Formats: sequence, structure tokens, C-alpha cells
Amino acid sequence: MSLISTKIILDNADKNGYAVGAFNINDMEFLQAIFSAALAEKSPIIIAASEGAMKYAGAGMIYSMVKTISDAHPDIPVALHLDHGSNLSAVMTAIRAGFTSVMIDASHFPFEENLKITKQVVNICRPLGISVEAELGRLKGIEDNVSVAERDAVLVNPEEAIDFVSASGIDFLAPAIGTSHGAFKFKGEAKLDFERLKKVKELTGIPLVLHGASSVPEAASKKFEEFGGDLKGAKGVPFDVLKEAIKYGINKVNTDTDLRISFLARVRESIATDKTQIDPRKIFGPARDYVTEIIRERMKILGSSGRL
Ligand code: G3H
Ligand code: 13P
Ligand code: ZN
Repeated sequence: MSLISTKIILDNADKNGYAVGAFNINDMEFLQAIFSAALAEKSPIIIAASEGAMKYAGAGMIYSMVKTISDAHPDIPVALHLDHGSNLSAVMTAIRAGFTSVMIDASHFPFEENLKITKQVVNICRPLGISVEAELGRLKGIEDNVSVAERDAVLVNPEEAIDFVSASGIDFLAPAIGTSHGAFKFKGEAKLDFERLKKVKELTGIPLVLHGASSVPEAASKKFEEFGGDLKGAKGVPFDVLKEAIKYGINKVNTDTDLRISFLARVRESIATDKTQIDPRKIFGPARDYVTEIIRERMKILGSSGRL
């Protein structure tokens, strides 16, 4: 199948009450791991590449790898999505390379400015059939004991969300509900603001995205530390919390950190246990397979398994 827009994948997920993983890549090994998992689980996939990924590998290289592997597996619906595009120039680089979906992340600007930039991106993408994601609120973990005013300052405002969605014409929205990027999301209990999430879904009626959704899986984290790493008590979004978020309207679950931890945990293991190894394939191959396992487990939790 040729690459399709994320909107097509998410509309189906929304209609049928499940979520699809958006998995970040920077190289061939992670991409192969995602495809192996999708084939085994019969799951649609969203391949995410950040500006950092475009800088590291080249936007054209990323597109070519994704196109090549998706052409070889025509049964799997695949979108290639720009993750956290920060300006028009990044969006144009992705579009020119062949991406089928973009996120414009102007969430750090005041509402009106965020809306203005997002509208410009929608105007460019809509005629090309490229889907657009935007974000409202800030991705900062929220402690249990912060005041209502502090929560309001950081998390999505559901009333603003409806205005933003109807004025911008975006296809899906990332509302900040208490997650953050990376391995350290919560000091205490992992808690998200589901009341806000429910309201945003009710008012906007479009697919919603959970950023910072990695779970920091226990086995991979243990392996990472067993072989000399230090995750300093990292804590992610537990599977039961993810499932609840999906029940209330999340259809795209962004996952990067879990792949990074699991890949490097297995690399650490190989390097520590096979000290004479000089063939990188013997190190990266098993790490790639381990990432596949982690993604398969996630696809089952998200409910995207068996959806082809
Ligand atoms: O949300 C950000 C993703 O994890 C990509 O991270 O900007 O380091 O490529 P990056
Ligand atoms: P994690 O850091 O939790 O994997 O989140 C990734 C993400 O949101 C990419 O946009
Ligand atoms: Zn993100």
C-alpha cells in the first residue's frame, strides 16, 4: 500500500475505540522493528520522525526507507508523520520529502499565535491530502498537590480546544493532560487528568493524541540497569492508565522512550556479555528484535493488534 495520511488510520481507530502507536525512528533498525511488530500483530502503524530525526538521517533518507519497507508489505496501512514540527520550514521539509502527515507544535505560543501558525499549515496540507496535528497546553508532568490555577496554566483548556479545532480545521489534537516526554514522567502516582480529556473529546469529536505516553517497561529498565545503565527511578504511563486514556478518546499513542530504553538495554547486554564482538550486526540485530517485542506488547495494549 502506498503511504496514507494519519487521519485515515485514526478515523478508523476512533470509530472502533482503539489507538494506534506512533513510533519514532531515526534509523533503519527501529523502522524494521516497527514493521516486524506490525506484521506479527496485524496492526496499522504511524512512523514518526522529529526534526532531530530529519537532521540526523535526512528527511529524504527517512522517506525512502519508509517507502521501501512499506512497498514490500502492502497489507499494512502506514503513515509517515512529522513529530513536533516547530515551524513552517520544518513542515515544508517533511512535505517535500514525501511525509503524509505533520504535527505543527506551536503550543508554547499564546493561543492566537498557535492558531495562526496552525491555520497556515492546514491551508498548505489540506489540498495535498496531508493530515495535520496540533497541540494545546504544555507537556509538563503535573504533581498531585499543585493548585487548580497551576493545572489550568499548563493543561489543555477544553473550551479553548473546541474553538481551536473549529477555527483551524486540524485533523487530530494533542491535549496536554499531565504527561511529559522522556523517562521521568511522575514522581508519585501516575495520574492523568481524565476529566479534561473526556471534555475535550466530547466537545471536539476528533481523534486525540497522547504525547509522552511511554510506559518505561520494567523488564527493559531492569536490563538497562543490570548492564551498567542508570535510569534513576524513571517512571512512565502504566498500561492500565493508557487503556483508560484510550477509553476516553485517545487514538494515537506516541512512543519513543520505550524503544530507546529497550534498544540500548539489549545493546548494553550484548556489549557486556560478548566482549570480543566486533560485528555491529551481532549487537544491533538482537537489540532490534527486543524493540519488536516491546512494540508488540504495546500494540496489544492499545488495541491495534488484529485490525488489518
Ligand atoms: O517527542 C519527542 C520525540 O521523543 C523525539 O525526540 O526530538 O529527540 O528526536 P527528538
Ligand atoms: P515518550 O518520551 O513518552 O516516548 O513520548 C514520545 C512522544 O511524545 C513523541 O512525540
Ligand atoms: Zn511528543
